[in-house]
Amino acid sequence: MPYRPLDIDSALDVAQAQVDRLITAHPGRVPVYTTRGHWVFDEDPWAPVWTAGFLTGQLWIFAERTGDARWHDAARRYSLALEQRKLDTGTHDIGFIFTPSWGRWHELDPTARTAEVLVQAGRTMAGRFNPNGRYLSTWVAAGSTFIDIMMNIEIIFRAAEISGDADLTRVAIQHALTTRRFLVRGDASTVHEGWFDPESGEFLRAATHQGYRADSCWARGLAWGLYGFSTTFAHTDDPRFLSTAESLARTYMERTGDGLIPPNDWDDPHPVLAHEASAASIAAAGLLQLAAQAGTRGPEYAQYAVRILGALAGPEFLADPAGDWEGVIRHATYHAGHGIGVDESVMWGDYYFTEALWRLASTPQLRSLAGLAGTTHPDTDTLQETLS
Ligand code: GLY
Repeated sequence: MPYRPLDIDSALDVAQAQVDRLITAHPGRVPVYTTRGHWVFDEDPWAPVWTAGFLTGQLWIFAERTGDARWHDAARRYSLALEQRKLDTGTHDIGFIFTPSWGRWHELDPTARTAEVLVQAGRTMAGRFNPNGRYLSTWVAAGSTFIDIMMNIEIIFRAAEISGDADLTRVAIQHALTTRRFLVRGDASTVHEGWFDPESGEFLRAATHQGYRADSCWARGLAWGLYGFSTTFAHTDDPRFLSTAESLARTYMERTGDGLIPPNDWDDPHPVLAHEASAASIAAAGLLQLAAQAGTRGPEYAQYAVRILGALAGPEFLADPAGDWEGVIRHATYHAGHGIGVDESVMWGDYYFTEALWRLASTPQLRSLAGLAGTTHPDTDTLQETLS
């Protein structure tokens, strides 16, 4: 991948323009993935719809970035529209739905209402806990867990912190320890799905849905794990989780190298497509969080994340707001095996790209770790310094 310097503000401007166009043309709809660049809304042929939080999270980011009432109103409207999912027991993706949406709302403007929604969402997620196997189950079956769930346990930690319910914390920690034991291999690659006997709790086997094989490493799964273990460290201070997050970061960086954007699965000997860009967005966002946790190793993670974002913000990946493509980041894939959203934009790829850029734009210390000269958004810098 050629080196591309990252212009944080220009990339955020593009994301903001694309999202503006999306909510103007298709108000209130929940985008999932694109087909030839045009969003498919409100349905998911593979999983229970899990992407409502990502667009809503972008709206909160643009509300914070611009201070504009129009973005705030949209962010509130979209958040309210998904509120009832706090009771949805049919999916393990409750964290994806609520952390970027109501979680961001609560950070910006905490009220009893935002607190209640986050606590209920966390309790619903924790209701998936199997005490025999000490894991949270997926929508697939009572005996199944995914590496992806590492990104969903933050909602349980948030609910525990708001409510003071230590049982919630225990559930999230036990799930993370089970994932670390059975879904992270000795070579710091990741298993996509683990199957357990739900009665005895015994681990049975590894499997995959979107990866190449049960024993291969699906890049997006590893990126979910990288970010999820870093988040778990942020909520527990337990060095085991930092160490796992760093091991996964190292695997991403070693296996992707100067290519920066991985294929769908590093072990697929004949990948149909060279890139799965949403894995790169997630990894960049996770590496930026990890950079602030990893002491002297932080600059390496921050600098690699900035290189990923520079590539994603280049002409090969970033959509042109003057063109016909409705997403933000191109060349992502949802489910290659089922032919869903292949070489397209996906809502989570767009969200984590935006989130990573915003984390850089709003955190001067992180830009300094990444070796980025100068500052952007002087007002935000002042705000962040006041808050920290
Ligand atoms: N369902 C999560 C993913 O496709 O990554």
